[in-house]
Amino acid sequence: MCFNCAIMNADIVNICMNFTVLSLFPEMFESFQRDSIVGRAVKEEKINFELMNIRDFGIGKHRQVDDTPYGGGEGMLMMCEPLFTAFENVECKTKNVNKRRIIYMTPQGESFTQQKAAELAEYDELVILCGRYEGVDQRVRDELIDEEISIGDYVLTGGEIPAMVVMDSVIRLLPGVLGKEGSHVNDSFSEAFDGKREHPHYTKPADFNGMKVPDVLLSGNHAEIEKWRRENLR
Ligand code: ADE
Repeated sequence: MCFNCAIMNADIVNICMNFTVLSLFPEMFESFQRDSIVGRAVKEEKINFELMNIRDFGIGKHRQVDDTPYGGGEGMLMMCEPLFTAFENVECKTKNVNKRRIIYMTPQGESFTQQKAAELAEYDELVILCGRYEGVDQRVRDELIDEEISIGDYVLTGGEIPAMVVMDSVIRLLPGVLGKEGSHVNDSFSEAFDGKREHPHYTKPADFNGMKVPDVLLSGNHAEIEKWRRENLR
């Protein structure tokens, strides 16, 4: 990898994972990193976010970041220079530089799965590049990126929402992140469910306007309940 890793920040070496996000719209991540389970994981110093604005590394007084594609065609491409400079400024926040993965969010990438989330949860550092416009110059992809990920066969206006999808699914797998909300062991797609989707869930009341909870779930018979749940995996 061709960019330098700056000195780690001694205050946060105990976090499970550091996420560095390179984006033209870093404000989009404010609520994501502040609220709910992800926000709590940040407060508890289980994870850390570094949001980098690619515009800060733009060229000239207009901070240019994009240009027209060689050979013609629609749209603009994110240029090499701002992105290579941005990557040179990525800092490592955890001890183990080798456990870092650099990801580019693009509809041209491999489809994201629960298994991929589990794989990424093993790293200490995820660096995520969010594309905009028609994407980024191929030389950035060839030189800087370890892996390209798509969140599905549709095209969004940029990689920010896909980056949040990937980070959210990874964060909830990190040790201690899910508290009383539950565990990820019995998730849809998990080994516990043979890779299938979870069974239906019900809560009180047992009868809501004539819509009844299946009797077996009220029976207290754990073996029968377990059997019903297995039969109702999808
Ligand atoms: N950027 C735009 N669309 C995308 C998608 N489907 N997955 C990942 N990044 C994207």
